[in-house]
Amino acid sequence: MTNGETITHDVIIVGAGLAGSWAAMVAAQEGVKDIGVLSKIHPLRSHSGAAQGGIAAALNNIRPVADTGPRGPLEPVPPGDDPVDSWELHMFDTIKGSDWLGDQAAIEIMVKEAPGIIYQYEHMGCVFSRLSDGRIAQRRFGGHSAPRANYSKDFTGHVLLHTIHEQALRHGVKFYSEWYCLDLIIEDNVCRGIVAMEILSGKIVTMRAKAVMFGTGGYGRAYKITSNALANTGDGVAIAYNAGIPLMDMEFVQFHPTGLYRHGILMSEACRGEGGYLTNSESDRFMENYAPDKMELAPRDLVSRSEQTEIDEGRGIGPDGQGIYLDLRHLGQEKILDRLPQIRELAIDFVGVDPIENPIPIQPTAHYSMGGIPTDENGQVTCDAEGTSVVGFYAAGECACVSVHGANRLGTNSLLEASLFGKRAGQSIARFVKDGAVLQPLPGDPAERNRKRIQILFGKEGAESVEAIAQDLKTNMTDYCGIYRDAENLTVAETEIHELRARFEKARIMDKSSRFNTDLLATIEAEHLLSFSEVIVTGALARTESRGAHSRTDYQARDDENWLKHTLAHKGDEGPALSYKPVQIFWDRYPPQERKY
Ligand code: FUM
Repeated sequence: MTNGETITHDVIIVGAGLAGSWAAMVAAQEGVKDIGVLSKIHPLRSHSGAAQGGIAAALNNIRPVADTGPRGPLEPVPPGDDPVDSWELHMFDTIKGSDWLGDQAAIEIMVKEAPGIIYQYEHMGCVFSRLSDGRIAQRRFGGHSAPRANYSKDFTGHVLLHTIHEQALRHGVKFYSEWYCLDLIIEDNVCRGIVAMEILSGKIVTMRAKAVMFGTGGYGRAYKITSNALANTGDGVAIAYNAGIPLMDMEFVQFHPTGLYRHGILMSEACRGEGGYLTNSESDRFMENYAPDKMELAPRDLVSRSEQTEIDEGRGIGPDGQGIYLDLRHLGQEKILDRLPQIRELAIDFVGVDPIENPIPIQPTAHYSMGGIPTDENGQVTCDAEGTSVVGFYAAGECACVSVHGANRLGTNSLLEASLFGKRAGQSIARFVKDGAVLQPLPGDPAERNRKRIQILFGKEGAESVEAIAQDLKTNMTDYCGIYRDAENLTVAETEIHELRARFEKARIMDKSSRFNTDLLATIEAEHLLSFSEVIVTGALARTESRGAHSRTDYQARDDENWLKHTLAHKGDEGPALSYKPVQIFWDRYPPQERKY
């Protein structure tokens, strides 16, 4: 319903990727009739669609041929044979991958419900790749001890996103395409709606709802080389933080080992799952020195660190020595064309290399944010170490931290997490609305506050453009808060962010018009990048240990005695104010162990 400048829905979901679309579809299926989904880009361009290699679930369709080792050939599991994979094994792999920072009750839910979500996709018509007997095809992925990545060639995210988007439309969900969320309205710990801008017209409206959910994705755009789409500027994370919600475990940023050299574009881990090699300038398969058992299929944090070490020690490739080779040639033309067609096209289009004939130059690329807005297993946002709920506010997918990935995510667990916790958030939103949730009164005129904020941005007359500041931030985060970190560099990063903020205060927006003003959007996005980057750096500086993707050269060991805990960062007057909360561990089943591959 539209009333002047106010739009009202029962439920408003920000973000149309897998998490948001699952939540919308499920809430609609469960009887909530009035759901609006906002997306700053066309919903089908949401970044879930860029995930390539697979979605994890222990289906037991395929297994390694006996006695051929962890990278040997695979064969279909004959019907009736004993299973090789199980949710328990998937759970252990995920906990170990997380370096014991993942919350184990949430992980248990995810891995137990994983097969069900794959079959639900299948029943909705999702076009998975198939074995010759018709079962869903599976491949290996890093850190998983069984082949459990269910895939559609190297377009898995794309087909999942199309499937769920169609279903959301079928259930009458209303999509607001190219609408940008500016603000979250929370008072007295109760969420009352959002403020949003229609990008085409520049119109700013208050959107009231009984429940709001964020499925706004990650924030890889804080780094210079990233696999993330231009849209991934962490808007939801920054908006929640500015509205008083703490952010959890933000220091854990995943670098995917194989981004296309100098572009960062994802070259799926499926390349290595299908048998690809990583080699250095001396043609050595250097993973032998770092993970002799798992080799290229060690988890991402370990492989990216190994690549960075090779590069730092002078064995990188390319004009600046910052690359590594991903060699697929031995897989042969037929397999590359059948399993990895998109990878081949991207390599040809962007760097002029046909992987059938030559190795692909790659480098580590900022890929995934393990941290985010803290939630419980039903997508309910929490605001402190005790788990106090923010009434009517939900989050799922990469912007959220439930936390199933802990300090390092395993590949294919993100499509699973976004789908599954998006679905669970949709169920819990439906319960909340059907149990009698009402529209809550608004504090003042939130839309007007945001119009004034934008007028202030338009009024700045400094000489510098916001673009230069955003670029400097990316360089700063890459150089001083990247794969390897130490106190000295993190302190430089922190100081630099303060200076960038001061520059931002004076930066000028060149375009002052209202229709499709991308200069204004870039300015607000840059403000978001600055605000959560400070949280990443502050958390990283405080955490004096190495765990998962957070690798401190000055504190190289994991320190369970002092750091087996989640970071919470509240926005304070002087910057992020840190506190901590315990990790949820089943001590009798999965106590912390040394993490070796
Ligand atoms: O490498 C990939 O295909 C990415 C998958 C993921 O991040 O889960």
